[in-house]
Order: sequence, then structure tokens, then C-alpha cells
Amino acid sequence: MSSPAIRRIAVMTSGGDAPGMNAAIRAITRTALGHGLEVLGFYRGYEGILNRDYTMLDYGSVSNIVQRGGTILRSARSREFRTEAGRRKAAGNLEALDVDALMVIGGDGSLHGASLLGRVWEGQIIGLPGTIDNDVYGTDHTIGYFTALDTAMDAIDKVRDTAEAFERIFLVEVMGRQAGFIALGVAIAGGAEFLLLPDEPVDLGDLADGILESRRRGKLSCLVIVAEGAVEAGIPSLDGRSRIRDTATLAKELEGRLGFGCRAVILGHIQRGGRPAAPDRILASTLGTYAVEVALEGVTGVMVGMHAHKPGTVSLDEAWSSSRSLDDYELKVQRTLL
Ligand code: F6P
Repeated sequence: MSSPAIRRIAVMTSGGDAPGMNAAIRAITRTALGHGLEVLGFYRGYEGILNRDYTMLDYGSVSNIVQRGGTILRSARSREFRTEAGRRKAAGNLEALDVDALMVIGGDGSLHGASLLGRVWEGQIIGLPGTIDNDVYGTDHTIGYFTALDTAMDAIDKVRDTAEAFERIFLVEVMGRQAGFIALGVAIAGGAEFLLLPDEPVDLGDLADGILESRRRGKLSCLVIVAEGAVEAGIPSLDGRSRIRDTATLAKELEGRLGFGCRAVILGHIQRGGRPAAPDRILASTLGTYAVEVALEGVTGVMVGMHAHKPGTVSLDEAWSSSRSLDDYELKVQRTLL
């Protein structure tokens, strides 16, 4: 598809922030400026379009941010944009601001929003997968995942020290919504003994037996990685009468059965912050550069992603509506190395 020339592009970050978003903003801005385009940055995702809250970006505005976590454009989840009327208002604002192409950096929800905007706005829309959850279809990894994994791994290494000293069991809850990518990755990287994943039934009696067996084999400490999606869905209590929906209660329930110390650690939002790890900076820089090149070719309605170290595109609709499953071989590795 060849394009009418584009003159002005806009960039925004939306939904849960992810380390590396700044590197993507920088890459988009500098690539676009290099092609003689103007670059506008909307604040707070779709809210910024609805409120015409933006800034013009130049080389200087994106200096010294490749190494910073968070997002200089801030992020938000917009209620108004979820309505048809909100999206029409956003389209009107984009037209009034002479935006020819919009770059949306975010996860599933933000990409879905981008696809819906494409039905009411004629400009070009390109998505970039930015979320720590790594659950976006059409890319091998999402911007932010590697850093979140490092942060979680660093935390569980520390938990291991105290677990070992006190010969305790620790349940460590990690983020990831309904996806278990962070949980599986950190279980392998941190050598966790057990892993509770979303969509996999958990039998607490079996887990308690497994922990006792690992004690018999001489393990002093035991780490159980709990994907937040696993516990939010509810895990049947030991007597089967209720469902446990939080990791602290899960730890108490296990302690009651085992008779020795079980503690819960909920890593929470620290997984979203911090200096982006090198793989996130490289991924974000590559996808940001590629997104502008794709826009210059006149392409619209796609998300850029990485496959086997090469950038490519997938339709926005496919990106938000298809799901990615965990890698079977990684699951096997985790179970083999307990
Ligand atoms: O999607 C990113 C994420 O951090 C998820 O892992 C988590 O479930 C969710 O966002 C938390 O959202 P909030 O910051 O609104 O509590």
C-alpha cells in the first residue's frame, strides 16, 4: 500500500506502564524527526487525545530517557474512550490537530482501543506492544517484560536467602493478569520449586504433599511462584468448602496443613518500575524505529512486533483478539528442574 505523504505523527503510552516505553518514544521521535516529520506526544494515553493534552517533541525532549523507567508521556486507562462517542471525539481532535499517523504503545486493551479508533478515524494507526505481561499476540516479547522478569528474579533471590535461613516456605505472587509469562519465566530463572499458573487447576493438598516431599529430599527452603491470575480465579481451600482468592490466605492455609512457617510476598507494582533492562531498550528502540518506517510506507491498522529477532507486522485486530500461550518447552524445563 503506498501512502499519501505524512507530515505529522503522534505518539502515546496507554494502560499499565512498562519499562522501555521511554526508549520507544525516543526511537519514534528521532526516526520521525529524521524523516522531516513533526512529532506530537499525547499525555495520559487516550485521555490526552480527548483533552487535547499534548506537547511537541523534539530531539531534546527525548534526550536522556532511554535509561528511565515509567513514561515521560504518563499513562492512563480512559473510561470515556471506551464509548463510541468518546472515540468519535478523539477522532475529531486528531483531525483538528492535523495528525496523520498515531503510534499507540500499550497492551491488549490499548491495542483494542486503537483498532476501534481506526473505525472512526481515517488516519494511520500503528500499535507497539508495551506491557510487562508479555501476553500480546504477534510478537515474541513485549516491551517491559524482560525488566519485570529481572526485578521479580532479583526479589525472589532475596526471598530465597531468608527462606533458607528460616527453613520456611514462601509464596511469591507476581503480576501478569491472566497470563503466566512472568510467573513461568521467574520460576525458571529463580529456581522455584512450585508454580501456580492461571488456567491450571491447583490442588492445595497435592501442593502440601509436594512441599513435604521436597523437605524429605533435603531442601531447606521452598519457593512457590503464584501468578496473580491463578489466585484471583480462586483456589479451592483444603476442605473444599471455599475458594481462596489472595496469596496471604493461601499461605495461612498451607501453614495450617504443614505445621511450619509459610509466608506470602506480593511483589506488586515494583515489577513495573526501574531502569529498563538492555533487551527491553533494544526491543523498544527497534520497534519504535520500525513503526515509523511502516507508517511512512502508508501501512495502517497494524501492530509492529518481533519474530526471531526480525521486526514485522500483524493486524491490530489479530493482535488484541488472539491469545498467546506459554511455551511448552519452557513449561517442561520448569518441571524438570524443580
Ligand atoms: O498489565 C500490567 C499490569 O501491571 C498487570 O500485570 C496487573 O494485573 C495490572 O497491570 C495492575 O493494574 P493497576 O496498576 O491498575 O493496578
